[in-house]
Amino acid sequence: MHDMFTTIDHLFTPGKGILAADESKTSIGKRFRELGIADTPELHRQYRECLFSTPELEEYISGVILSDETIHQTMSDGTPFAASLQQRGMLPGIKVDRGLTPAALSDAEQWTEGLDGLRERLQAYKALGAVFAKWRAVFVISESTPTLGNLQANCQTLARYAALCEEAGIVPIVEPEVLYDGTHCLSQSYEVHEQVWRELVYQLYQQGVSFETTILKASMVLSGKEHHHADAVEDVAAATIQGLSHTLPASLGGVVFLSGGQSNEQAYAHLNAMCRDYTGLPWALTYSYGRALHARAMAAWGGQEAHIPAAQEALLADARACSLASRGALS
Ligand code: G3H
Repeated sequence: MHDMFTTIDHLFTPGKGILAADESKTSIGKRFRELGIADTPELHRQYRECLFSTPELEEYISGVILSDETIHQTMSDGTPFAASLQQRGMLPGIKVDRGLTPAALSDAEQWTEGLDGLRERLQAYKALGAVFAKWRAVFVISESTPTLGNLQANCQTLARYAALCEEAGIVPIVEPEVLYDGTHCLSQSYEVHEQVWRELVYQLYQQGVSFETTILKASMVLSGKEHHHADAVEDVAAATIQGLSHTLPASLGGVVFLSGGQSNEQAYAHLNAMCRDYTGLPWALTYSYGRALHARAMAAWGGQEAHIPAAQEALLADARACSLASRGALS
């Protein structure tokens, strides 16, 4: 059995990162429909089998985040996905939040649901092989948001989830995603990221969570998607590292990044610049990308068995690029 330190060491194996394949049934269904793929549980399963059986994927991927649907599914030969990943050296993780709901009295913001019954669900996921977990909260940047109430509520929920994970011996990944949507500039994004990370660290401390066995899944400090001016890669890297350095304890288990709607090339270039230009940080940095790792594979697959080799080739090429970026070696 993996203890939490072993899990963290494994997830941060140099040159490797996490594949986020944890879209809920609703989210994967939406992505399938956009590509004209039928939205059925069996096609969800076939797609995940296509990803997880990619030859040599374990060279670049140390862990895979699964959804509740996927952790209950199996490869065609009947091997549970979690066991099949474990056998190839990719640790299975589980998204345990139950998604977003509108925040009360602040209709532009959202809370994340899923604390009720989480202690029991964590035991069940552990029995299915999960050694780490993920919980996502979102923060919206606008003239009136994030409100202090939303900021505190989401960070406290993340901390309560993390405490339950550590109690169960499961490494928590806390994911406070500051959304990329909007017209805000880089310095507004910086301010909000710093506020969120500061509050999260405070709440983790208040809940008695051990930083050493906790991983932060961070969004990058970026101007909003609709901002009129594109950021220089070096500015994103500098702002993100500065915000992390100002707020995170050195003892934190590590930092992984989400891609959050950036293009693959942006997500790779930003990670590459951080890993190339900022060595000697107290925590390891790597990727935990969803779309930037497997959106091209999904499009290449398109629901067709005959396209599996093309999809696996696309996934492997993107995983290789992420691996190089995590070493700061992407040219
Ligand atoms: O919660 C979000 C996923 O874990 C990461 O997905 O890289 O597409 O933002 P993304």
